Amino acid sequence: MAKVIVVYESKYGNTKLVAETIAEGMREVEGTEADVSEVKRVDLSKVPNYDAILLGSPNHLGGPTGGIKRFINKLGKLPLEGKFFAAFNTYLLDKSFEQATKKLEKRIRDKVPGAKLAAPGLSIRVQGMKGPISEGELPKCKEFGKKIATQIKA
Ligand SMILES: Cc1cc2nc3c(=O)[nH]c(=O)nc-3n(C[C@H](O)[C@H](O)[C@H](O)COP(=O)(O)O)c2cc1C
Repeated sequence: MAKVIVVYESKYGNTKLVAETIAEGMREVEGTEADVSEVKRVDLSKVPNYDAILLGSPNHLGGPTGGIKRFINKLGKLPLEGKFFAAFNTYLLDKSFEQATKKLEKRIRDKVPGAKLAAPGLSIRVQGMKGPISEGELPKCKEFGKKIATQIKA
């Protein structure tokens, strides 16, 4: 059984829905267990029990939220060598999303020694500051979840 935790921060609920949809996609891959947790509710002592850690944030001023950044800093103190990671975010403005995903991935690589990125990050567009998620975007979340679940079991 592969165990995954999908950790997110979300001001208006869109990134939460993305996290839940990614987890749904993961559960479609046999032998995958996926938990979803808001960043402030994660029990850090349990994180090393997972095979993969997915981290998601809304794009705030071109990067992840403070809560997600602080969480990644804390992960750096845990024994997570060889664990799979992947990043996702939601964004409003076309021009900033790639940069925001890269920032999140860079932070994971810099702060968590031995972290393995399972796949390039996923960016999901919202229609307004408070959402909703743009048409055609949610199916990408499910596919992303399936792809990562398949990858970590390989
Ligand atoms: C303080 C703040 C700063 C933001 N900065 C950006 C930004 O730089 N680029 C962008 O594309 N969207 C930006 N947004 C829009 C968010 O990406 C959008 O609100 C978010 O994707 C919605 O997700 P949520 O419902 O999970 O909070 C910003 C939103 C807030 C509240």
